Formats: sequence, C-alpha cells, structure tokens
Amino acid sequence: MNCSEVIRERRSIRKYVTDVVIPRRDIEKMLEAAMMAPSACNTRPWEFVVVENDAVKQQIMGAMPYTQMLKTASLAIVVCGRPDLQEGRCNDFWPQDCGAAIENLLLQAKDLGYGTCWCGCYPVMDRVKEMQKILDVTSLPLAVVAVGKPDEAPAARGFFDASRVKYL
Ligand SMILES: Cc1cc2nc3c(=O)[nH]c(=O)nc-3n(C[C@H](O)[C@H](O)[C@H](O)COP(=O)(O)O)c2cc1C
Repeated sequence: MNCSEVIRERRSIRKYVTDVVIPRRDIEKMLEAAMMAPSACNTRPWEFVVVENDAVKQQIMGAMPYTQMLKTASLAIVVCGRPDLQEGRCNDFWPQDCGAAIENLLLQAKDLGYGTCWCGCYPVMDRVKEMQKILDVTSLPLAVVAVGKPDEAPAARGFFDASRVKYL
C-alpha cells in the first residue's frame, strides 16, 4: 500500500480481533514513525506509554468513557505531551506536535495491517488528571490510541470540500 492509499483508506476501528499479540518490532515501528513527526524547534515534546495490561486498559476505560473499543484492542498507546521540553523556546506548540506524531502512528499502523482509534484526552483536564494517576506520569496525556487487528472494515470515504479552501 502506498502512502496515498494508506491516508485514504484509514478509518477509526472500534472492533478488533481478540487475543492478538502485537509483536514488539511492530510496536516499535509505530513509535518510531510517531517520533519522526515534525515538531516546533525540533523539541519532540512527547512520550508514549504502551498499555498491554488488561487491568490498566480497564482503568482507562473507566476514566475515558469513549475508549470502550479497548475491550477488544490488543493495546493502547497513550501519547503524552512534555511542555517542559519547550520551555523558553517554541512554548505551547506541543499539542500540534503530538497531533502530528499521532497521525504518523495511525498511518504506520495501517500500513502494518493494524486498525487504530484516536481517543482524545487533553484538554479535558479531569480526564488528564485521572490518566496521569493511572499511568503514573507527570506528562500530559493527550490521546489514547487503540491498536489491534481490525474486526470490522468501514469503507474508505472522502471529505474533500472545496468550500473550505481559499486560493489567494
Ligand atoms: C482529537 C480526536 C479525538 C477523538 N476522540 C475519540 C474518542 O474519544 N472515541 C472514539 O471512538 N473516537 C474518537 N475520535 C475518532 C473520530 O471520531 C474519528 O476520527 C472521526 O469520526 C472520523 O472517522 P474516521 O477516523 O473513521 O475517518 C477522535 C478523533 C480525534 C482526532
């Protein structure tokens, strides 16, 4: 699948084949793709928590109501922002940087044959605080990405809307 096909065929997947173990080399490839994203002043203001443990997944589902697809997902990758790495230079660009990392992760996962679902956490601060406790981190959980082998195949669709574009 080339890059153009991956982008156009990616969909959010909320039902996964259960009991699939994702090999460590695939997890690392997704994380590497995430970390290759551009970032303001090349600060790379992120860290990642890979959650394979069912009890922790259960806690995340309790803290974030729209992550119930974790029941069947093989794992969750929590993308956390590190604003401390941008203090004094390129302050406050970290949500954009992490968004770029997340999209790279999603596309790499698709290319490897996995499905994903991006679930937002930051800026809902009560969720952020709860997730910090669950993961034992001081960074800011921005999103939970569910990853697994798809057990549904939503059709590709396009949203190109010329009315949202202005050429000057
Ligand atoms: C910032 C953000 C937060 C999202 N949060 C959730 C979520 O909590 N739960 C969920 O099921 N989907 C979530 N989604 C997925 C969107 O619902 C999905 O991307 C959108 O409906 C378009 O569908 P598609 O991804 O299949 O193209 C989120 C997506 C983004 C970008």
